[in-house]
Amino acid sequence: MASDLIDSLRAVVGDVHVVDDPQVLAGHLTDWMGKWHGHADAMARPADTAEVAAVMRLCAQAGVAVTAQGGNTGLVGGSVPLGGILLSTSRLTDLEPVDTVGATVGVGAGVTIDELDRHARAAGLSFGIDLASRESATAGGVVATNAGGVRFIRHGGTRAQVMGIEAVLANGSVLRRWSALAKDNVGYDLPGLLCGSEGTLAVITRVLFRLTGLPGPTVVTVAAINRVGAAVDLVAAIRDAGLTVEAAEMMTAAGVDLVTGYGMRSPVATPADFYTLIEVSGPGDLESAVTGVLERAPEVVDAVMEPGPASALWQIRESHTESIARSTTTAVVKLDVSVPLSELDATIADLVALTGHAGGRCRPILFGHVGDGNIHVNLLDVDPADAESLTDSVFEVIHTHRGSISAEHGIGRAKARWLHLGRTEVDIETMRAIKSALDPQWRLNPGVLFGE
Ligand code: FAD
Ligand code: MLT
Ligand code: ZN
Repeated sequence: MASDLIDSLRAVVGDVHVVDDPQVLAGHLTDWMGKWHGHADAMARPADTAEVAAVMRLCAQAGVAVTAQGGNTGLVGGSVPLGGILLSTSRLTDLEPVDTVGATVGVGAGVTIDELDRHARAAGLSFGIDLASRESATAGGVVATNAGGVRFIRHGGTRAQVMGIEAVLANGSVLRRWSALAKDNVGYDLPGLLCGSEGTLAVITRVLFRLTGLPGPTVVTVAAINRVGAAVDLVAAIRDAGLTVEAAEMMTAAGVDLVTGYGMRSPVATPADFYTLIEVSGPGDLESAVTGVLERAPEVVDAVMEPGPASALWQIRESHTESIARSTTTAVVKLDVSVPLSELDATIADLVALTGHAGGRCRPILFGHVGDGNIHVNLLDVDPADAESLTDSVFEVIHTHRGSISAEHGIGRAKARWLHLGRTEVDIETMRAIKSALDPQWRLNPGVLFGE
């Protein structure tokens, strides 16, 4: 790369905010799992949208690739650059005052989900997206991946929370759709298009989010069950009792064994094949109402209940990702699939059979957002030579059960080879046409979504 470009970037964002020291860069060139590695000539840390636009214009003139990076917690390798300039959003951290009447807030792309939610809570509202990575994952990152998380069942995914976006296109133009109107039906939904675009269409600099009310008191139950479908039935019974399901998660005996090995407590005394964690809100005596539902549930083997936030119970579920990363002896094969709720039991049975038949080629840990039909299939200790064929087999099972190869993590680099399993030829051609229109030189996040 011409050192001229680095000098020009320094003139725009300041010397200290263009990093080309290999040791400092290194931490940004590997993903959270330590699985994906990349390279970049330098990292630029612009302070605001105008600086992002100037960086993008310089890279356009030089014909250089740009990869946006937020908290680098993505699980499909999309935040790791394959050359060119890494654009960090770490300085885009402005928090506008909350509009408590319209229940919206504008934030910089680099604000973390935890900061955003705390800001909303201070104004009596909350953010509808919550993930275990909340302390690092950013506003721009959740929009770019259209993240789901543990409150999807209640509020929907990130796309449902986005009212407006400010983003810089590949040529440096600033696209600003910033309307806090509940109804505004003029033309294409460009903010919606950027949700899930994984840094391939534009660099998001600011987001106008919808906020939600606080749920009021909650209770959290963990129920031991021997069939995943029993969790789906329990969710239905809780709703039938006039209560609101705030989250509905799933764990297996193997996953709970793993996390207890890392200091988490066992959720219940009676062991079972599966455990479901359900958070409930509602009027009246919540604990009695949920106890009544649990007592009438024919397949609940054992259960505990605690008033929210019940952090220790949540930790059992949320520590899965980190425990898996610590325990696998080779790069984890991390698949994130969804199936219709009616197919959950059959899908899990097929996955258990498949990974069992893999004959010691992997150690499977399944968990996920059961209320959304979203199963996180983690295969540990896989010989790297087997990773692709095991992935093929899992996706075959998912295809049989009319599911998706990516429920919430996106495609990134990890799943690009399997894109054709998730979308038709015409669909992919349409996506490529959109990519070419917005990024004619295909310089934004090369390798992501469509492959290298
Ligand atoms: P990064 O990892 O930095 O980037 C992710 C992608 O977005 C990349 O393609 C990058 O180029 C692009 N990008 C980032 N910022 C911008 C921007 N400003 N403009 C354009 N493109 C951008 N995900 C879920 O969906 N649900 C979960 O429940 C969940 N739980 C997690 C738990 C743990 C412990 C971990 C480690 C991850 C989890 N994730 C989950 C995955 C991850 O946290 C999300 O994908 C998150 O949205 C990524 O945000 P980030 O800021 O870290 O983005
Ligand atoms: C989760 O639900 O905890 C995440 O999506 C992370 C993961 O799949 O490991
Ligand atoms: Zn998840």
